[in-house]
Amino acid sequence: MTQGKVDALLGIVFGDEGKGKVVDVFTPRYDVVARFAGGPNAGHTIIFDGKKFVLRSIPSGIFDKGKLNIIGNGCVIAPDLFMAEAKELEAAGYDLRSRLHISSRAHLILPTHRVLDRAYEAAKGKKAVGTTGKGIGPTYSDKASRTGLRVGDILRDFPKRYAALKARHEQILRDLNYTDYDISSEEQLWMQGVEYMRQFCITDTVTELNRLLAQGKNVLAEGAQGTMLDIDHGTYPFVSSSSTTTGGVCTGLGVSPRSIGEVYGIFKAYSTRVGAGPFPVELFDETSQRIRSIGHEYGAVTGRDRRCGWVDLVALRYAIMINGVTQLIMMKSDVLDGFDTIRACVAYERDGQQTPDMPFDTEGWQPVYRDLPGWQEDLSSMTSEEQFPKTFADYINFLETELQTPITILSVGPDRAQTITRHPNS
Ligand code: IMP
Repeated sequence: MTQGKVDALLGIVFGDEGKGKVVDVFTPRYDVVARFAGGPNAGHTIIFDGKKFVLRSIPSGIFDKGKLNIIGNGCVIAPDLFMAEAKELEAAGYDLRSRLHISSRAHLILPTHRVLDRAYEAAKGKKAVGTTGKGIGPTYSDKASRTGLRVGDILRDFPKRYAALKARHEQILRDLNYTDYDISSEEQLWMQGVEYMRQFCITDTVTELNRLLAQGKNVLAEGAQGTMLDIDHGTYPFVSSSSTTTGGVCTGLGVSPRSIGEVYGIFKAYSTRVGAGPFPVELFDETSQRIRSIGHEYGAVTGRDRRCGWVDLVALRYAIMINGVTQLIMMKSDVLDGFDTIRACVAYERDGQQTPDMPFDTEGWQPVYRDLPGWQEDLSSMTSEEQFPKTFADYINFLETELQTPITILSVGPDRAQTITRHPNS
C-alpha cells in the first residue's frame, strides 16, 4: 500500500492570510485535518452552511463529517476556551466526540499563564510584543523549562500537579510585583473545561497519525499564525512562541520529513501585521486605511486594527525557502482593485545598503519598491483566469517570476465560489 502524505497549509507572512477560507476547499481531499502548533491565539474564520464560526484550537475539518481531526502535540490548549468553542459547534449539530482526538502531549494553558502573559507584557513597557493575551508564551516557556502540564496529566493525579504549577506562577507574579489580579471565576470555568475535555479522546496522536499514513490515508496539516511569527525564523522577539513552519509540522505532529507532500504557502496580495514589531512595508497613509477598510483588516481574536502595507517579496522569498513551499495561494486580490499603481517590496535598504534577504535585525530597514500598473476592473466577479485584466495577469506573472513558485489558487472575494484554480497538477 502506498504510504499517505502530510500536506501542509501554512500562512507564510504574519498570519491572518485567510486560511479559514481555503481550508474548506482543501478538506474534501484529506482523511485527517491536524493542527500542529499554536492555540487560541489563532482565529480561523469559517463560514459553513451560512453560519460564521471562529475556530481557535479545533481543526477546520470538523465541519466535514467523514474527517478525523487532531490537535497535535505541538499545540497548546486552554480547557475553558476549548469548551466554549466545542460547545458552540456541538450546539450547531457537529459531532465532535468521535471525530476530534487530542494529543496527550499537547500542553495546557493555565489561567495563571494568561496572567503571566499580561505581567510580562506590562514589564516590557514600550517593548511589549502586543501578544493576544492568551497565555501562549508562558505556556511554551513552561514546556521548554520542563515544568509544563500536558493534556494527558488531567487523567493522572491532576489536582496536585495543577496546584504545584499554579503556586510556581504565583511566586513569579509576586517577584514581578504583579499581584492585582483575580482568577477565581476564570479558574472555576477552567476546571469545568478540564472535566469537559476528559470526555474527549485524549490519546497518542503520533502513533495514530503514523498508522493512518501507513494505511495510505492523507493528512492536511493546518497551520496557524505565519512564518514571520515563528519562534526561530520570525522577527524575534516580536514573534509567537511556536514553530509555525514545515519543520513545526514534523515536530508538532510527530511525522517524519519524508511524509511531507505538498507545502501550500498562503499570502495576501498585500501585507498585514497585528501587534508590535518590525514591518518594513508598513504604510501610514490613506492607502493603509483603504486596504484596512476594504480588506476588513481587524484582528479575529483581539479586534485590533491590523497594520497594512504592500506585498513584501523579501519576506515571501524567505518563507518559501524555509518551508519548501511547492505552491502559492494568493488571497484577497480584489482588495487591490482600483489602484492606479501597485507596489511590491523587492529588497530592503538601510544606510545606503540593499539586501534581497531577510536581515537578522529588521528594525530601521526601508522597502525598495517595484511599481506596477494597477487595474480598474472588479476582480470579484471573475470566475476564470481568462477574464483577468492584463495588468493583474502581469502582476501574477511578476510575483511568480520573483518567487520562483507557481501561484495555483487565487482568491478574488470572500465567498467560496470566488476561488480560482490555476496550473492544476503543477
Ligand atoms: P502570542 O502568540 O499571543 O504570544 O502573540 C505574539 C505575536 O503574534 C503578537 O504580535 C500577536 O499579534 C501575533 N499573533 C499571534 N497569533 C496570531 C494570529 O493568529 N494571527 C496574527 N497574529 C498573531
